[in-house]
Amino acid sequence: MKQLSCQPAGEPESVVTIGSGLLGAFLGDAKAREVFAVLDPFMAEHPTLRAHGDLTQHWHEHIAEPGEAQKTLAACETVLRAMVAAGLDRESLCVAIGGGAVGDAGGLCASLYMRGIELWQVPTTLLAMVDSSVGGKTAVNLPEGKNLVGSVHPASRILIDVDFLTTLPENEFRSGLAEAVKMAIGVDRELFELLDRQSDAVLDRQPDVLLAVIERAIAGKIAIVEGDLHEGGQRRLLNLGHTLGHAIEGLGRGTLAHGLCVARGLHFALELARDLGALATADFERSVGLLTRYGYERDPLPPTDELMAFVQHDKKVQGDTVQFALPTGIGTARVEPIRLDRIRQQLAR
Ligand SMILES: NC(=O)c1ccc[n+]([C@@H]2O[C@H](COP(=O)([O-])OP(=O)(O)OC[C@H]3O[C@@H](n4cnc5c(N)ncnc54)[C@H](O)[C@@H]3O)[C@@H](O)[C@H]2O)c1
Repeated sequence: MKQLSCQPAGEPESVVTIGSGLLGAFLGDAKAREVFAVLDPFMAEHPTLRAHGDLTQHWHEHIAEPGEAQKTLAACETVLRAMVAAGLDRESLCVAIGGGAVGDAGGLCASLYMRGIELWQVPTTLLAMVDSSVGGKTAVNLPEGKNLVGSVHPASRILIDVDFLTTLPENEFRSGLAEAVKMAIGVDRELFELLDRQSDAVLDRQPDVLLAVIERAIAGKIAIVEGDLHEGGQRRLLNLGHTLGHAIEGLGRGTLAHGLCVARGLHFALELARDLGALATADFERSVGLLTRYGYERDPLPPTDELMAFVQHDKKVQGDTVQFALPTGIGTARVEPIRLDRIRQQLAR
C-alpha cells in the first residue's frame, strides 16, 4: 500500500491511498460517520459494500444513473433530495464510489449540499483512478456541452484499489489508459518510457505494472494541481487532447467513452503542434507510435461544422481563440491561444 498527498497552498489535504484489497478497511474508517454513498450501478451488489452497508445504520446510499446519464442537473437534484431525506447535516460524509461520471456528479452534490460537505472518492475505473478522482474538479453536462456546470471540491480521501479493474470492460480500460498516455505525452517523460517499455504487461492488466502506471500518473497530476488548483495556468496542460475530445464526446451524446475521444483528440493535437512547428517530427512519430501501440487509431472525424459547434462552447474559448494544449516534445507541452479558424482549417485537412 502507498500513500500520496495532494495539498495545494491554503487548501485542505487530499490523501490518496493506492493498493489492492483495501475497500473494506477504507469503509470501516467511515463507520462512526453519517455517510451518504453515491454508487455506480455496477456496485449495487458488491460483496464488500453489502457487508459494510448492512452493518451500519449510518449508511445511506443512492444508486446513480449509468455513466453520463448521472451527469445532469436533474440527476443531481435527485441525489440532493435523497441527502435531505436521509437527514444529512454539515458534518456528514459523501462517498462517491464508481467511474468518473459518478465521481464528478457525486462530487458536485457534495460541494452543493449545505454549501459543501466532506467528500471521499473511490474511483472504480482506470480513468477515474489516473485522472478524475484527483484534483477536485466536479461537473455535470448541459445539452450545449460537457462539464459546463461544476465546482472545485477536492476529496479529503481517495482510495485507488486495483481490484476494481478486474471487472472493468476492455473498452473502459482502454478509455482510462488514454488519460495515462495523455500524461505521458504532455507531462511526464518517465511515464512515457514506462508505458512504452511495458505495453504488453499494461494491456494484460498485470497489477504491479498497473500500480506503477497509476502511481506515476497521479503523482504527475498532483504536482500540477498543487501549483494550480483552479486552472489559472499550468493545470491547463491537462486539457491536452480534450478540446477536440470533448467535441467528439459531446457529438456522441454520452455514447462514446471519454478517454477514447481524448485519444482521438491527442492525434489532432499532435498533428496541429507538428504543423505549427511546435513539435519535432521525431517526437511526433514516437508519440503517434505510443498511441498506436495502445490501439488508439486515427479514426475519421465527424463533420467539421458539427465539431466546431461544440468547440465554440468549450470553457477554454476566449473571443475567437481557444487556450489549446500543444505537445512540444516527449513529456512536455505548452498552452497557447489558437484561433478558432486555425482549428477549423486543421480539421478540414
Ligand atoms: N473531474 C475530472 O477531473 C475529470 C477528468 C477526466 C474525466 N472526467 C469525467 O469522467 C467521466 C468518464 O469517467 P469513466 O471513464 O470512469 O466512465 P463512467 O463513469 O461513465 O464509467 C464507465 C462504465 O463503467 C462502469 N464501471 C465503473 N467501474 C466499473 C468496474 N470496476 N467494473 C465494471 N464496470 C464498471 C460504469 O457503470 C459505466 O457503465 C466523464 O464524464 C469525464 O468528463 C472528469
